[in-house]
Amino acid sequence: MKPILAVARHFTPQVDARIDHDFEARWNTTDHPWTQDELLQAADGADAIFLSPANRMDARFFSLLPKSVKVIATFSVGYDHVDLAAAKASGIPVAHTPGVLTDATADVGMLLLLGASRRAYEAQQRLRSGMWPTAKGDLLGWSLQGKVLGIYGMGRIGQALAKRAQAFGMEVHYSNRHRLPVEEEQGAIFHEDVDSLLRVSQFLSLNAPASQETRHFLRKETIDLLPQGAIVVNTARGALVNDEDLTAALQSGRIAAAGLDVFEGEPNLNPGYLNLQNTYLLPHIGSATVETRTAMGMLALDNIQAVLDGKPAPTLLRY
Ligand code: 8YV
Repeated sequence: MKPILAVARHFTPQVDARIDHDFEARWNTTDHPWTQDELLQAADGADAIFLSPANRMDARFFSLLPKSVKVIATFSVGYDHVDLAAAKASGIPVAHTPGVLTDATADVGMLLLLGASRRAYEAQQRLRSGMWPTAKGDLLGWSLQGKVLGIYGMGRIGQALAKRAQAFGMEVHYSNRHRLPVEEEQGAIFHEDVDSLLRVSQFLSLNAPASQETRHFLRKETIDLLPQGAIVVNTARGALVNDEDLTAALQSGRIAAAGLDVFEGEPNLNPGYLNLQNTYLLPHIGSATVETRTAMGMLALDNIQAVLDGKPAPTLLRY
């Protein structure tokens, strides 16, 4: 008999096909993310759950989790939607998908740096409304070449972005909980003091996970430390940004432009961003390529299968 899998969303055709082949799948047939109660109901009698960051796993979730469930996999590297202490107390292994989405997300980091600095949103709007730039002045952006990119959070994705930015002629500085070994720094300059990183960051990329410590890292006080006219991008989590402070800084020109793929409270983003010409906004597509989303799904399923088979699972969260 196939194990029963509660599946909170659809993935790529290859991943969906493997689910249907290997499991008795209980698919989310609604067009919204399952509520916690819907998810718990689908999980009743299931061996495993496959969900996404749209599903919060808090203390209530773990306390009500059916005893049949032996493993949970999240379709993400980020795990700020998981209450790790509650997961640990429940003893249920939770898998995530590190590594396989590094390049896709770093690519979107570059897209945001370029989109924000070259005023791509405004340029698209002008072109589509028949206002060729020279009619109303040129659309002048800001070069990446020769500028300092500050990376806040130098994990896998931060390092992959650093490599790309260096290829565009940027000088990379970073701050991280720990300094990287010199051979992994690839010439990037470490700042032990985050304020010192902010003071030199003509461009700033947020690449740290969301946590109590990083919540609203970018706010008025930290924005004030950036060079005048700095450009900010975020592919990590919206919770790192105080939206009121960033929209105010974008409005005044203190921050010249922002490129954002993630938003606090998404999909309900702060409406202040929408009216700003100097924002380049994407709907959390960092990992959204066919290849990457397939690799994420396969890795998540490998984890589920391994736990159900009593074998070591490749990428369980450590708690
Ligand atoms: C999302 C992500 O999981 O991996 C992460 O942490 O934020 C993304 O890859 C993806 O958008 C599916 O919800």
